[in-house]
Amino acid sequence: MKKIPQTILFLLLLVFTFVAAENSTAHRGGGGADEFHVGVILDLGSLVGKVSLASISLAVEDFYSVHPNYSTKLAIHVRDSMGSEVQAVSAAIELRENYKVQAIIGPQKSSEAAFISKLGSVTQVPIVSFTATSPSLTYDSSPYFVRATLNDSVQVNSIASLIKAYGWREVVLVYDDTDYGRGILPHLIDALQHSDTYVPYHSGISLSATSEDIMQELYKLMAMQTRVFIVHMSSTRASLIFTMAKDAGMMSKGFVWIITNGLANIIDLLSPSAIEAMNGVIGVRFHVPKSQKLDTSFLIRWNKIYQRYNPNKLPLNKSISIVGLWAYDTVWALAQAAEKVGVSGNRNKRLQPHKNSTCLDSLAISINGTELLTEIVQNKFRGISGNFDLTERQLQVSVLQIINVVGGTWRHVGFWTSKNGLSRYLNQNELETTGSSASMPDLNPVTWPGESTEIPRGWEFPASGKKLRVGVTSSAYPEFISTSKDPVTNATRVSGLSIDIFENALKRLPFALSYEYQAFDTDGNSTSSRSYNDFVYQVYLQRYDIAVGDITIIYNRSLYADFTIPYTESGVGMIVPVKEKVDTNMWIFLKPLSQGMWFRSFIFIIYTRIAICLLEYLSGNRYLHEDMLESFLSRIVHRVWKIVLLALASIYTASFASILTVQRLSPALTDIHELQKQGGYVGFHQGSYMEGLLVDIGFDRSKMRSYDTPDNFHAALSNGVENGGVDALVLDVPYIKLFLAKYCKGYTMVGPIYKSAGFAFALPKRSPLLAELSKAIINITGGDTIIQIEKKWIDQNSCQHDEEMDGSGAITFGSFRGLFLLTGFVTACSILAAFLMCHCKKQEESRHIQDADKGNEENGDCNDDIDNQATILVPDSPNTNSISDGVSAEPFTQTNSCQALSAHFVH
Ligand SMILES: *[C@@H]1O[C@H](CO)[C@@H](O)[C@H](O)[C@H]1NC(C)=O
Ligand SMILES: *[C@@H]1O[C@H](CO)[C@@H](O)[C@H](O)[C@H]1NC(C)=O
Ligand SMILES: *[C@@H]1O[C@H](CO)[C@@H](O)[C@H](O)[C@H]1NC(C)=O
Ligand SMILES: *[C@@H]1O[C@H](CO)[C@@H](O)[C@H](O)[C@H]1NC(C)=O
Ligand SMILES: *[C@@H]1O[C@H](CO)[C@@H](O)[C@H](O)[C@H]1NC(C)=O
Ligand SMILES: *[C@@H]1O[C@H](CO)[C@@H](O)[C@H](O)[C@H]1NC(C)=O
Repeated sequence: MKKIPQTILFLLLLVFTFVAAENSTAHRGGGGADEFHVGVILDLGSLVGKVSLASISLAVEDFYSVHPNYSTKLAIHVRDSMGSEVQAVSAAIELRENYKVQAIIGPQKSSEAAFISKLGSVTQVPIVSFTATSPSLTYDSSPYFVRATLNDSVQVNSIASLIKAYGWREVVLVYDDTDYGRGILPHLIDALQHSDTYVPYHSGISLSATSEDIMQELYKLMAMQTRVFIVHMSSTRASLIFTMAKDAGMMSKGFVWIITNGLANIIDLLSPSAIEAMNGVIGVRFHVPKSQKLDTSFLIRWNKIYQRYNPNKLPLNKSISIVGLWAYDTVWALAQAAEKVGVSGNRNKRLQPHKNSTCLDSLAISINGTELLTEIVQNKFRGISGNFDLTERQLQVSVLQIINVVGGTWRHVGFWTSKNGLSRYLNQNELETTGSSASMPDLNPVTWPGESTEIPRGWEFPASGKKLRVGVTSSAYPEFISTSKDPVTNATRVSGLSIDIFENALKRLPFALSYEYQAFDTDGNSTSSRSYNDFVYQVYLQRYDIAVGDITIIYNRSLYADFTIPYTESGVGMIVPVKEKVDTNMWIFLKPLSQGMWFRSFIFIIYTRIAICLLEYLSGNRYLHEDMLESFLSRIVHRVWKIVLLALASIYTASFASILTVQRLSPALTDIHELQKQGGYVGFHQGSYMEGLLVDIGFDRSKMRSYDTPDNFHAALSNGVENGGVDALVLDVPYIKLFLAKYCKGYTMVGPIYKSAGFAFALPKRSPLLAELSKAIINITGGDTIIQIEKKWIDQNSCQHDEEMDGSGAITFGSFRGLFLLTGFVTACSILAAFLMCHCKKQEESRHIQDADKGNEENGDCNDDIDNQATILVPDSPNTNSISDGVSAEPFTQTNSCQALSAHFVH
């Protein structure tokens, strides 16, 4: 893990120990009996160092003014590491040598802590650092190391959920190439991968990098399509990077910068110019809960001390950074532990005194080191930074705060807890958080770089300033796409269905995209010499940002490019000539009408006959003849029925004729495997993937013939195999539709025989444009636009297709319901009318009978019939019983005459 070779460090250590040892005797035993010596190692040149020093001094003052009776008193020995690991280590040794320090606060940097914590383990001196956050420092390898802060891996999940919440898919990491910077990488990349975020690049910026190096790196970042950067750097480097990024135009609209807590925690301490440059940045920091101790009087005292150490600096009027608070609390924790352990145990054992060595034998093991460590770790108290609990040998903090740097200060955006994720307020109702977590979590609005309030989409494609290079190639079907070169401007001109869909899709994107067409076959001599596979491959070679055309999605191509969703229907079909075939079925005459139709027609014939019969009888005519119908009503019924029969007959004739025609035209071939077995010839479009498909099916290459235009297809099919033609053509269904729209006579489509995904546009793998474009294409294909575009390019009316007709095409009763309803209704009405008329007549006559009281036999015809029927239809008729006796012979006569008539009618 450590990058500084330990051997070199060790050699340097020896030298420094020698020097330090010179003075060691002079100071030995210099401390008072109840002084508890504690070393402090900070980089006093840095802001964090200055703030921490002030806090530590204030903490010692405060602690012993609160606890005046304590028997121990911390004696603080401050050393400046000057940002160098070697200095820090030598300071540690010197402190141990000269003052027998029993604990060390610091060091400030993770890389320093790496070695000093090892030293602490050897000498059993607790090392308490509130700034060394690199997760590469583990407690297993350094048991005396205590982290009075959190390791950097704690925040990675919050950063990942932030990225997910704003819908970004790719991020670039920018970090210091130091122990601190690198420490977070594995954890951060893990967390990002968990939330499906891709890290195309991470940029480690070396401490020795010059301004030019950094500028070059920034330009490199700017040339990439990702626009989300996570910055994990020390404050000095970060200030530089942000100032330079601003100069490079990378702090403008569309960019996203996220800072980790290392920087966000001390945002208040940064110089105004750095804060100014960071406008729009968002960050994750530890949340400092409001506390009564943290009042203005505290801040005033703190600032006084700060001024004492930094007389030429302006006072920090803004709130003191959390690092300062942790420094303060660390001192309190240590002072309490010191009181418990006491200085009485302040005796030291020589480190391996028998050993003949020159350096480390001057270091001694701290006798009560273990005890002190236990006390520090077990001491929980309410400090100024919140609950100060080091039980896990690091601080227990579960709430992180999301901030937005804006207008020279920062604003609260939301909180993150491992339990509830992102939310605007703490203690937010759990239901509320889960409810909103489905979409965008409820956070305060953020002002993004460039003073933009619109959430950046996180990528730029193509990179800024460039135009989208759209590769186009002429298709054999100009309806799909055709390209030409403008003779004057040399610009590529394109048109076709694919282009219309592409341009329509671009219009539906939520952002504007400038693009230019680049023809794949600019030499123009042959469109077919290079296949579509090559065309798609250009996308992989990054010659184009997108390939537009009638490109079928196939497995081979998907290996090196991603496809949008298809914009045409899918499938591979076969075009074959139709052949004539005579149907020899003896029952073919039944086919025009469906079974139900035949049956119902038959029922209606009988019904109508009976009705006419009945009507004639009612009017007194016993000898039925079609031409001699006497009743007016029966004539109406007869006429209507004749009309229905006429309609039925003409439909039958038409349907029968069309069945005979269609049946004669059937595909000459229905199965491609059959064709292959028979050794037939098959044609395909030159350069298309069909060639591979046909080989896969098992066709011999000598049986495959390629053509490049629809006219040639037509010629090949019509010429026949003997003249160099083919038996069938295998094409994508969209081409077949186009072909049949042009040459429908004599050809038909068989299939789809294979599935294919349809036509789509090809983009480079992982292109951020892919999802957006696919969404737009779904919007087109799911709506009316596609119909209009297809109408424009594929003229479906130029060639009328014969309506397909098979067994199920027979005419059913449904289409004749109207006519049958008409005749049925007229018949029923006529019968009803006849009954009513007879009934009235009868009543009149019975009145006559009652009046005359005799002679009713003369007019009996009608009466008898009515009575007879009334028995059936109107059982409660008052007249029924009185007369029924005298008419028993009549129905027989009626049936007879009806039968006779039926027989007559049939002949
Ligand atoms: C040793 O002590 C002298 C005087 O006390 C001082 O000037 C010198 O800097 C010290 N050297 C070291 C390495 O601390
Ligand atoms: C870092 O902190 C997390 C959360 O408290 C903890 O699970 C992990 O073990 C820590 N890692 C190291 C190296 O201290
Ligand atoms: C210490 O080193 C000296 C010379 O290097 C040697 O003579 C002596 O025996 C050594 N003593 C021990 C205890 O190893
Ligand atoms: C067009 O292309 C030809 C050949 O590449 C070149 O000679 C000519 O200058 C170009 N014209 C323009 C306007 O770019
Ligand atoms: C896919 O590629 C392989 C090897 O390049 C080739 O053998 C096969 O025919 C191709 N398939 C199609 C459908 O193009
Ligand atoms: C296309 O997008 C518009 C705007 O978002 C929407 O109103 C419309 O319903 C979408 N149409 C289809 C077919 O998805």
